[in-house]
Amino acid sequence: MAMKTRNYFVPILAFLCVMVAGNLAASSAIGWHMQPIESNIADKPSLQRGAKLYIGYCLGCHELQYQRYERTAEDLEIPLDIALESMIFTGQKIGGLIKNAMPEVSKDWFGGPPPDLTMVARVRGNEWLYNYLKTFYVDESRPFGVNNKVFPNVGMPHALLELQGIQRENCGTVAGAECLELKLEEGTGAYNAEQYDQAVYDIVNFLDYVGDPSRLDRERIGIYVLLFLVILGVFTYLLNREFWKDIH
Ligand code: HEC
Repeated sequence: MAMKTRNYFVPILAFLCVMVAGNLAASSAIGWHMQPIESNIADKPSLQRGAKLYIGYCLGCHELQYQRYERTAEDLEIPLDIALESMIFTGQKIGGLIKNAMPEVSKDWFGGPPPDLTMVARVRGNEWLYNYLKTFYVDESRPFGVNNKVFPNVGMPHALLELQGIQRENCGTVAGAECLELKLEEGTGAYNAEQYDQAVYDIVNFLDYVGDPSRLDRERIGIYVLLFLVILGVFTYLLNREFWKDIH
C-alpha cells in the first residue's frame, strides 16, 4: 500500500515542480515592477465607462465573441434602447455576440490576428492587463513605433495613445540594462495621468466582468444560500432539542 502511494507521489511532485518552475520563468521574464489593481465588478458606473472605452478603442480589432450585447447591457444596467444606440455600430441585433468586421487579412497587418479578449482577464490576470495598458512607450525600432514593458515586442499599436499621450523610457543611455522607468510627456494626451489610470482601471474592470459574467449573480445567490443554512440550522437545533426533551 505504501509503495502504491509513492508511485503516485513521484509524478505528482514532478508535475508540481514543473508548474512552479514555469510560473517563476514566466514572471521573471520581465523586470517591470507591476502596479497592483483591485478590480470591483460591482461598480456599475466603472463597468459602463469600461464598456464604452472598449467599444470605442478596442472592439475594432478585438471581438468578445462569447459575450452578448443584451446580457452586457442588462448586467451593466444600461437600458436596452440606449445600448442599441450607443454600443452597437456593426448593424447587429441586440441579442448578437460582440463581434467586429475585422477582415481575415488583418493577421498580415499585425503579424498575427488580434486575439478575442472574452477570456483575457482570466488568462492574463487583471494586474497584467492594467500594467500592459499603462506601459506602451516610444520605440522607433518597432513597426508601430511603440513597445511595451510587460509584453515586449508586442504587435499591437498603442490604442489609447490619444488619451494617455506620449511615453518614453527615462533611463539615459545605459547600454544593456533593461530600462524600468517611463516618463510621460505632459500635455500630449487628452487625459492627465490620474484620468488615464481611471480609464485603464475601467477597461480592466470591464474585461474582468466579461471573463466571468455570472460572478455577481453567484455572489448574490450565495448570500441567500448562507442565510437559508443559518435559518435551517436554528430550526434543526430546536427540533433536536424537542426530540430529546422527554428522554432525559
Ligand atoms: C489596431 C488593432 C488593435 C487595437 C485597436 C487594439 N488592439 Fe490589442 N492587440 C492587437 C494585436 C494585433 C494583438 C496581438 C499582439 C501580439 O501578439 O504581438 C493585440 C494584443 C492585445 C492583448 C494581449 C492578448 C494576449 O493575451 O496575448 C491585449 C490584452 C489587448 N490587445 C488589449 C487591447 C485593449 C484593451 C484595446 C483597447 C484599449 C486594444 N487591445 C486595442 C491589436 C489591437
